[in-house]
Amino acid sequence: MTDVAQRLEGTFTLLAVHADAPDTVVGARHDSPLVVGLGEGENFLGSDVAAFISHTKEALELGQDQVVTITPTSVEVVDFDGVPAEAKRYTVDWDAAAAEKGGFSSFMDKEIHDQPHAVGDTLLGRTDPSGKLVLDDLRIDEAVLRSVDKIIVVACGTAAYSGHVAKYAIEHWCRIPVEVELAHEFRYRDPIVDEKTLVVAVTQSGETMDTLMAVRHAREQGAKVISIVNTHGSTIPRESDAVLYTHAGPEIAVASTKAFLSQITAAYLLGLYLAQLRGNKFPDEIAAILEDLREMPRKIQTVIERGEYVRATARSMKDASSVLFLGRHVGFPVALEGALKLKELAYIHAEGFAAGELKHGPIALIDEGQPVFVIVPSPRGREGLHSKVISNIQEIRARGARTLVIAEDGDDAVRPFADEIFWIPESPTLLSPLLAVVPLQIFAMSLATAKGSTSTSRATSPSRSRSSSRAPRREGAA
Ligand code: BG6
Repeated sequence: MTDVAQRLEGTFTLLAVHADAPDTVVGARHDSPLVVGLGEGENFLGSDVAAFISHTKEALELGQDQVVTITPTSVEVVDFDGVPAEAKRYTVDWDAAAAEKGGFSSFMDKEIHDQPHAVGDTLLGRTDPSGKLVLDDLRIDEAVLRSVDKIIVVACGTAAYSGHVAKYAIEHWCRIPVEVELAHEFRYRDPIVDEKTLVVAVTQSGETMDTLMAVRHAREQGAKVISIVNTHGSTIPRESDAVLYTHAGPEIAVASTKAFLSQITAAYLLGLYLAQLRGNKFPDEIAAILEDLREMPRKIQTVIERGEYVRATARSMKDASSVLFLGRHVGFPVALEGALKLKELAYIHAEGFAAGELKHGPIALIDEGQPVFVIVPSPRGREGLHSKVISNIQEIRARGARTLVIAEDGDDAVRPFADEIFWIPESPTLLSPLLAVVPLQIFAMSLATAKGSTSTSRATSPSRSRSSSRAPRREGAA
């Protein structure tokens, strides 16, 4: 196998069994996932621990360019030159039930309902007894983090939208400029990155090839990389200077939901940690924001419990061929994510816009009956923001749009301009994406189901799950 692996080019995971030794399986990996499951009298190979979690929670994380040979009772790891190599052993912190549908209609449905726990678990254990924020797996010198003068978030898809939310929070709390860049754009241009740049790679799977390449490129330029990752044992955390794990549990559905909320939560923690370290905020200010964050799982649960009205609205719109989404400030990435979910699941035209951009062209798309979701910011939030969005709703209504409004409980100012209102509990503006996106996830899933779109099976079929086929598919697409 080592001879073959040395001659292969490109990204691969390769497994081989010799007909004369059927109890021995040899595997090799280069830039592609391969994890070993360690059982009693049995061992396993899979691209993700979900493949063997019903048999064992003990796993070995293989390094880059390693070859593993397993029999029922032994595991040997060497590098591509045949030299014995170390692989890191770890215990998976979720069980088989977490990777099953558990009575829900689809994995996506289950994962939407998992969100209060995913956010709560991501917040757990992040403060010391004195209340000071501590982040595990953060192996970068504090002096280096104090000297950072720019942050670049690199990610793809939904994960990139969590980066957009992070930008608003981190810039506000830490006063460090934050750029958000799609990993596939970052890696193919000539980004300005140096030792004072902190690159934050956000990824559920930890295997998205474009994000991995962006991480490598950033480190080659001298930047430090912190990754926000959900999947233990994956490649990106191994290649980062530090890792902040989200604790969303396995995300099986192709369309990301609970990983998104956990990524946003982890990004808030990172922002608060930097603010603490760099002295941008007093300890009591940080403690107050953490307290607000700890309230969020309960509020997310409230939004989920109000889901039937969203589902009924989606059913009534099963013939819609286009839906638009508008938001300002942190509502803008929420609008982008709402549109992405709908495209990905219901296969219909959907676009998200910054509400202020409406008059610069997109308003031409609005005519009689065009459904438009509008994410309305809290009336108690940043001055002027709420009233600006209310005037945007008036503009589109004047052109005949059907307005579907996501607004905070008690915001009576929206009532006259909304055809439908999806209420969410009060929250600080910067934290509100954790609530505002939930009705949009439920809407996309329900509309896809109502249309009988094949995409609903994308959210249900394990054969299309992230664990089995998703990472390789994305690598191919990269
Ligand atoms: C896309 C998924 O293929 O990959 C998105 O549909 C996801 O949901 C994106 O956000 C990035 O994946 P990851 O694993 O890097 O977060």
